[in-house]
Amino acid sequence: MLRRLYHDQPESFAFTPANQKWAEAQITKYPAGRQASAVIPILWRAQEQEGWITRPIIETVAKMLEMAEIRVLEVASFYFMFQLQPVGSVAHIQVCGTLSCMICGAEDLIAVCKDKIAPKPHQLSEDGRFSWEEVECLGACSNAPMAQIGKDYYEDLTAENFGKILDELAAGRVPVPGPQNGRYASEPLSGLTSLTDHDSGKTQYNASAQLAVDLGETIKRIDGTEVPILTPWLDRADKRSTGNAKPAPKSAATRKAPSAKPAAAQGDVSEKKPRTMSAPRKAGADDLKRISGVGPKLEQTLNELGFWHFDQIAKWGVAEIAWVDARLKFKGRITRDDWMAQAAVLAAGGETEFSQKTKKK
Ligand code: FES
Repeated sequence: MLRRLYHDQPESFAFTPANQKWAEAQITKYPAGRQASAVIPILWRAQEQEGWITRPIIETVAKMLEMAEIRVLEVASFYFMFQLQPVGSVAHIQVCGTLSCMICGAEDLIAVCKDKIAPKPHQLSEDGRFSWEEVECLGACSNAPMAQIGKDYYEDLTAENFGKILDELAAGRVPVPGPQNGRYASEPLSGLTSLTDHDSGKTQYNASAQLAVDLGETIKRIDGTEVPILTPWLDRADKRSTGNAKPAPKSAATRKAPSAKPAAAQGDVSEKKPRTMSAPRKAGADDLKRISGVGPKLEQTLNELGFWHFDQIAKWGVAEIAWVDARLKFKGRITRDDWMAQAAVLAAGGETEFSQKTKKK
């Protein structure tokens, strides 16, 4: 199937403040220079916010991750989880049309979609609440035919029970996902023939369906109210900036750093410009890439800001970190990797675990 950007695009895109903060936190999970690794989660969050991937989303994410726009588009157009056109505001139905599902009745399900939603895939229903498409195998072949609705699978479908599910959704209710023919999971329809004594501890529904029921998120879009995907180093930075300082990570330093102070990762500490230099000292600049977390791009930025030497970085305190952090693309990295502790060791002529490795290379 040809996947390309939709003909009618919005003017602009901006993350909500909560999603912006979340996205910036995801970037800090990856080493310097590898921020492009965050492209899938960040695109996904953008889709959860907007419903589909627009051109302005691609441009924004490319800028955020310092990627060429075409690279972001390649990711968005490769994975079917990304929708390149508007989808139903209540649910987008993905009917599996691959072999097992096809021979078990996928065509009947598609006929239901055509009847109840819209004659063509990716066409919105008249009220704009539903859309559908046929997708490749979703890996639930033993429960064929099946469809993914929102985040969960509805399995062992017939035209009849599938039609009822769509009616329920249209009425504002979310039917229980999982097998729709009385099966618990993917055991034989006639019942188990082995492992029959393993029934104790069963939940009402199989584990996936039970979780879906418990979370109640089947067709809900992620909006930040879910269990967060943690970035504990940022939380630590928060705590440390309010006085609960913990020692620097072992890997970063072999002696106590004089100024291994925390950063104001969340921006609530006033900034103070550290002492900067217009050029390196006569002996030449230090190789700042020997600090774990500083790649070639960050080193260049640091030099442009006026930082050439380890001892300059080692002297940063909370306010100075806040100043530098505000001028770097990826906030929180200074504290996450404790640049000050590392720099203090290197300035004193010592080695950190990381600098030793880079030396060997
Ligand atoms: S063929 Fe439909 S889930 Fe595999």
